[in-house]
Amino acid sequence: MKIFPSLISANLLQLGAVVQTIDDHVDGYHLDIMDDHFVPNLTWGPAFIAALRRITKKPFQIHLMVDNPAAWISRLAFNSGDSFIFHVEAVADSGIHTVLRDARSAGWRVGLALNPGTQVERVGQHLASMDEVLLMSVNPGFSGQSFIDTSAKATQLTALSGKLNVKMPVMCMDGGINESNIGSIANAGVELVGAASAVFGGNNEVENIKKLRIAATR
Ligand code: DX5
Ligand code: ZN
Repeated sequence: MKIFPSLISANLLQLGAVVQTIDDHVDGYHLDIMDDHFVPNLTWGPAFIAALRRITKKPFQIHLMVDNPAAWISRLAFNSGDSFIFHVEAVADSGIHTVLRDARSAGWRVGLALNPGTQVERVGQHLASMDEVLLMSVNPGFSGQSFIDTSAKATQLTALSGKLNVKMPVMCMDGGINESNIGSIANAGVELVGAASAVFGGNNEVENIKKLRIAATR
């Protein structure tokens, strides 16, 4: 299981030091961009992403909780291997293909996120154009919410990709993930998780990450 900490519940005034401490222990960073419109909260912008890029070489999974993801394609600095994930609920069906295509031609890995209440069929026609799919296990907007079990969608997506005869994107999950649910998430076929509270709760992030890795194998 790949663990991508979401920095929103880290000690924000010590972020440089936090990243230095955990960098060797993480597979990448899950970076939540919120616009106070698609979700009622605000987080990082382009300058923060660029600053973070200067202190780590790990991949970034940018999770855009914004109304207009197309506008963000050229705003964000990125390295090859970084991914650009936006919400299927944020863009009209007819426009999704264009955003995926434009982000990919700018060099990003691309994918769609689905809110807990959104059915997997919504992304069916786009599966072939996606590198990652992000199943939300909370309603987006805040860290520290309780896990909503959406792992049945992992199975449904795999079945859908078989039916459509397209390669499955990397299956990712985000929200409320902790030691007690990560094992069953892994068993459902999820390969990468974003996690904030489970990593930054308490006072030992590295231990928390190690515990999550062990729990993922159970
Ligand atoms: C929720 C964000 C998540 C959040 C996860 O809107 O997309 O990435 O940071 O936080 P935890 O792990 O605390 O649920
Ligand atoms: Zn997220």
